[in-house]
Formats: sequence, structure tokens, C-alpha cells
Amino acid sequence: MQNDIQEVLYDAQQIGEKVKELGATLSKDFSGRNPLVICVLKGAFIFMADLVKEITVPLEIDFMAVSSYGQSTKSSGVVKIIKDLDVSVEGRDVLIVEDIIDSGLTLSYLIDVLERRNAKSVTVVTLFDKPARRTVDLEADYKGFTLPDEFVVGYGLDFAEKYRNLPYIGILKPQVYEI
Ligand code: PRP
Ligand code: MN
Ligand code: MG
Repeated sequence: MQNDIQEVLYDAQQIGEKVKELGATLSKDFSGRNPLVICVLKGAFIFMADLVKEITVPLEIDFMAVSSYGQSTKSSGVVKIIKDLDVSVEGRDVLIVEDIIDSGLTLSYLIDVLERRNAKSVTVVTLFDKPARRTVDLEADYKGFTLPDEFVVGYGLDFAEKYRNLPYIGILKPQVYEI
């Protein structure tokens, strides 16, 4: 598996430090509130687990699974809800936790859904951002690292469901998907 990675961009320690920073900032900014923290499955599962441990305000969590990529390295442009939330977002301060923003399609769709369901506020935190790939005008409220326009995997991010368990984020060798 290691052999499929061309270059490690951020290792486990660098990611850990960034997650701590984001958690501290969010704890301050959400002070006095009781956010509903939504993990966008599957990619955000590791970031979510690490991030909520660093947030000190009382919070609740829920999960939503959406997918636009399927087995491809390119977004299909069509976002599907595969698993919906268990609870209502009405009147809640919602914090969406994403692993990466690429085209922005997934998030713009999600934000729209949550606003239509009358969330009180919708805030987005993403660990990784790939602004070069954006097709919709959208910025996260909080972000960890800005990435180059390369296909990356690890720390939750997959290619064809593989590599999510790598503790770091790295560039996948093109020959792995160009076959
Ligand atoms: C990936 C990633 C983000 C989204 C970003 O999810 O985890 O959710 O794509 O791309 P976008 O900004 O172009 O929409 P994916 O659809 O691959 O599902 P997964 O999280 O289950 O891997
Ligand atoms: Mn995802
Ligand atoms: Mg994916």
C-alpha cells in the first residue's frame, strides 16, 4: 500500500497539531452554544473523531453519507444522500465536518439542504481544501491545509474505497488509477 503513495504531504503529527488548533478555535467560537456536529461520511470519519475530542463545548453528533465520486477520481457532479441525519436540524447551530473541498458541489448541496431544513446557522470546517478545483463559489469557514491539485488519499480520503486508513495524507501515484 505504501508503494502506491508518491509523496506524503502531511504526516500524522502535522495533522494532529492542525486538528488541535482547529478544535481550540472552534471551542472559542462556539462558546455558549450547543452545536450539532455533522460528519460527512465516509471521508470525514477520521477527522470527525479526532476533532470532536478537541472541542470543549457541549455538542451532539450525527452522520450523513453523501457521495458524488463513486469509483472515479472525478466528481460526477450529482450528489446523492446515501444516509440521512437521524435528528432534526431545525433551530440548531450546525457544524459540518468535511475532509476535503474539491469542486465544492458536495458542500453546496449539503448547505442548501440544511438551510432548507431551517438550521439556525450552518458553519463548515474542512481539514483539506483544493481551491484549484472549485466549480462553485464556496469557502469553508474553517480550514486546515490547502492542497495542490493532485489526487490525494489517506486520513479518511479514498480512491475506490481504499487508503482511508492511512494515518497521513499523500499523493496517489497516477499509475494506480491510470489503468
Ligand atoms: C469526497 C470528499 C468530499 C467530496 C469533495 O467524497 O470526501 O466529501 O468528495 O468533493 P467536491 O467538493 O468535489 O464535492 P466522496 O464523494 O468521494 O465520498 P466519500 O466521502 O464516501 O469518499
Ligand atoms: Mn466525502
Ligand atoms: Mg471518496
